Amino acid sequence: MSDIQSVLTEARLFPPSAAFAAAARLNKEKLAALCAEAEKDPVEFWAELARKNIAWQTPFTKALDDSKAPNYRWFVGGKTNASANCLDRHLATKADKIAIRFEGDKGDTKNWTYRQLHADVSKLANGLKSLGVTKGDRVVLYMPHTPEAVIAMQACARIGAIHSIVFGGFSSGSLRDRIEDAGAKVVITADGNTRGGNLIELKKAVNEALSSGCKTIEKVIVLKRTGHDVGFDAPRDVWWHDLVAQQSASCDPEWVEADHPLFLLYTSGSTGKPKGIQHSTGGYMVGAHMTSQWVFDLKESDVFWCTADVGWITGHSYVCYGPLSNGATILMYEGVPTFPDAGRFWKIAQDHGVTIFYTAPTAIRALMKLGEEWPNKYDLSKLRLLGSVGEPINPEAWMWYHRVIGKEKLPIVDTWWQTETGAIMMSPIPGATATKPGSCTQPLPGIFADVVDEAGEPVKGLEAGGYLVITKPWPSMLSTIWGDNERYVKTYYGQFPGKNLYVAGDSTHRDKDGYYWIMGRIDDVLNVSGHRLGTMEIESALVSHTRVAEAAVVGRPHEVKGESVFAFVTCKGARPHGDEAAKLIKELREHVGKEIGALAKPDDIRFADNLPKTRSGKIMRRLLRSIAKGEEITQDISTLENPGIVAQLAGKE
Ligand code: WT7
Repeated sequence: MSDIQSVLTEARLFPPSAAFAAAARLNKEKLAALCAEAEKDPVEFWAELARKNIAWQTPFTKALDDSKAPNYRWFVGGKTNASANCLDRHLATKADKIAIRFEGDKGDTKNWTYRQLHADVSKLANGLKSLGVTKGDRVVLYMPHTPEAVIAMQACARIGAIHSIVFGGFSSGSLRDRIEDAGAKVVITADGNTRGGNLIELKKAVNEALSSGCKTIEKVIVLKRTGHDVGFDAPRDVWWHDLVAQQSASCDPEWVEADHPLFLLYTSGSTGKPKGIQHSTGGYMVGAHMTSQWVFDLKESDVFWCTADVGWITGHSYVCYGPLSNGATILMYEGVPTFPDAGRFWKIAQDHGVTIFYTAPTAIRALMKLGEEWPNKYDLSKLRLLGSVGEPINPEAWMWYHRVIGKEKLPIVDTWWQTETGAIMMSPIPGATATKPGSCTQPLPGIFADVVDEAGEPVKGLEAGGYLVITKPWPSMLSTIWGDNERYVKTYYGQFPGKNLYVAGDSTHRDKDGYYWIMGRIDDVLNVSGHRLGTMEIESALVSHTRVAEAAVVGRPHEVKGESVFAFVTCKGARPHGDEAAKLIKELREHVGKEIGALAKPDDIRFADNLPKTRSGKIMRRLLRSIAKGEEITQDISTLENPGIVAQLAGKE
């Protein structure tokens, strides 16, 4: 049975346990009250939450300026600071509470209290200032997933500098492109780190990026993590420990306007060039803060482990800004789930007394395959809430998570959102919502979703299928695309002109109970292990290889990754066969790894003399997707310029 069918016939319902609901921040009644309030006056609903939950240096005078829609401005006139909200305001009551528990790849551990975190952030903030970084400057972070990454984010936020994290798995070329697009002044990196015991050469990649461009970079701050020899170019390069050694542990936060950019985060779209998603300070903080409370039911005694790397939006909102602004204890783990063995995640959960565990379906599926004897070896009794994010979770993986990790007792929150939305948009509320395996259930209070057809018209009734849209602005929405507001308007609000609908890029089904089931992307975006990749990016990486003439990339369903990259390639010269083909496939995979990063390497590459094109020259991707799946071709191929190519593409010639 295909995943879509199994989702559409899924009928199991798991109501929240009475015990959980009794102790939860939100139960059914409280949630209903919040939703009712939001319905009545959405803008005032958010304004009230913003006033009560965020520390403002200057209160805002207007909750929402929509005069330039779809460029919305939230909390106009207000001044705040994200780092002050995450750190300073906890000092009076919980300075000695652990903010971050850390476990390194090799098992090394270290904790930071709120007091220590505040001091380290302030020192680095002063260090940045001493290098000439000021409000509005861009700072690129290319860091391991260690507390220093959070310290660097907070230090930037503290002085009003805009951070832009590039995931450490991206190549030097990707890093260069992002540095250049952001026009960054400083890079913060580490000499390197290990993941699963393998050395990641972070500084080496920075050196490569800088030697091939990045003219705006003045300084590189290098954290010593591995201690191995790296190319170090003083005075451009400075060691983190040298920079902070003489700095004061106090640094007044720079109070910035609510819509001052807190960060840029690059993500893939349907064209080749990644876009710098720009998030505001005030609106973003309201979203990250409130959703952390609502969805994760954060309490004083929790140890919250979100396994996402800080290089992704999940790491921004639910490792750094959301939990810390709530004064929670977070856990950060630098490595991979299966090193040195398949029990590592569960051992960490046990050893650190993790109470809330938030991960991606791809990790759940991978761990599920390794067998339940691994989690069963460890004491997971402190866990009280499980979460999922990044891609649709198939009911089978959901049930395994529920049974083996949740012991059939713990609520599971399947959270739907995007880099662009800043914070969770749809999710069960653990003490209030009955869950269905595979559904992210319903929009959060203050979020208004709908299903529309090809013309942008709402599909009537509860039961509906079509495009997922958000019908009203929300505080943590992206402000724009860095340097390209036109692309922002066109990409997110351009699909249905005059309708003012945010188009998420996902197709969805809504069932008779009003629950949403996300079916996948409607654009040329792939979701590989919860990581977003543009097919065009991979295609341009492939065609930059000397042997490649043309390439078309599609996704193929994959048991663990959700989706994998499948590339159809035509070569300059004769189509390679046998050993030559095998050699070139290896070379092309490496090439894509070098151009973009290992996460983009195609699992499958197939050579053909031609790609299937319509008479107007358009590649028929739908056909390629069917071929990649190994389906029998039943589609009408008579409109193809070259119908004879189909057998070859299917690997039959
Ligand atoms: C795309 C956004 C923000 C989380 C990390 C990914 C897919 C995300 C779910 C979910 C089904 C999901 C969507 C979305 N997605 N969460 N719970 N169920 N699909 O952020 O890289 O910006 O990707 O991830 O397709 O559009 P992202």
